[in-house]
Amino acid sequence: MSEQERKKIILSSIQPTGTFTLGNYIGAVSRWGKLQDEFDCIYSVADMHAITVRQDPAQLRKRTIESYALLIACGIDPKRSIVFIQSHAGTHAELNWILACSTQFGELSRMTQFKDKSAKHPDDINAGLFTYPVLMAADILAYNADLVPIGEDQRQHLELARNIAQRFNGKYGDFFTIPEAYIPEVGAKITSLQDPTKKMSKSDENPNACIFILDEPDVIIRKFKRAVTDSDSIVRYSEDKPGISNLMSIYSAVTGKNIPDIEREFDGKGYGDFKLAVGEAVADNLKPVREEFARLMADKAYLKECYMNGAKAALSISGKVAAKAYHKVGFVDAR
Ligand code: TYM
Repeated sequence: MSEQERKKIILSSIQPTGTFTLGNYIGAVSRWGKLQDEFDCIYSVADMHAITVRQDPAQLRKRTIESYALLIACGIDPKRSIVFIQSHAGTHAELNWILACSTQFGELSRMTQFKDKSAKHPDDINAGLFTYPVLMAADILAYNADLVPIGEDQRQHLELARNIAQRFNGKYGDFFTIPEAYIPEVGAKITSLQDPTKKMSKSDENPNACIFILDEPDVIIRKFKRAVTDSDSIVRYSEDKPGISNLMSIYSAVTGKNIPDIEREFDGKGYGDFKLAVGEAVADNLKPVREEFARLMADKAYLKECYMNGAKAALSISGKVAAKAYHKVGFVDAR
């Protein structure tokens, strides 16, 4: 197949640390299903990444299955895309080692997420937390992905994955595709509803700060009503109005309306009307996700069939890449 005929490969992954947030959904997962028409898509639940912070094993297993079901509920079709659980493809761990040997201590030390997480868990700054971006590079490079749809917070990790790939290619000859970040124009950084200078995150201690995609409609509407905004009441997108601008990005992402249209729609109306409209639009948008999730969780056999098929497909691709990488670095072939 010529380069023109080959569809580009999309790859992304999400950690199974609880229900997805509206930030995960808008910045990443809600877009993943839409990419299936144009690209060959590969998605996974990053359970290996999750254990860089302490997890209860039974909870992790449960959340991994729930996250898998959520990916499908958010529009990813396991018949059209490869959808798998990261730990089912041992090839990622194999490549992780190879790539770690092309990664510098200094560049890992500069990762802001490592600094943030080690500040949050000072009693458990483990080596996995430090080398986490190498495993992420392995996830991506194992499939020679062209594009990686992510939110803004993962940009630095993706940059590092590119550097690792380039360094490997420099040492051993062109091998890995250099992946590109695929970051949305609107919604790449959904912020906390209580402190719009902070990323919306599931670990936020204030329950009103974060919308979870399985929240009931009345809970969603209530959280939006309580969202922190500035003291004027003009619905206008502006850097000095981070709270209202965040709500506008959310509204834009779930309705498909652009920012100027939203400004016109709410011209002369106050924040109260706008917050209610955002809450209702988000609740409406998430209703089918909630229903599909409930349906899928009632059919564990189907989910298992999907993730077992996903693992087979993932291993078939990444196994070949890992074997070639082993050969490239000079390991003796076993076949
Ligand atoms: P994770 O699980 O933290 O987040 C999953 C995706 O959601 C995006 N995201 C957001 N986007 C906008 N606003 C927010 N507030 C927000 N919060 C999260 C993230 O940018 C991400 O795209 N290391 C990754 C998982 C991973 C991965 C990979 C991603 C493992 N291997 C390979 C891409 C390719 C992570 O922890 O994402």
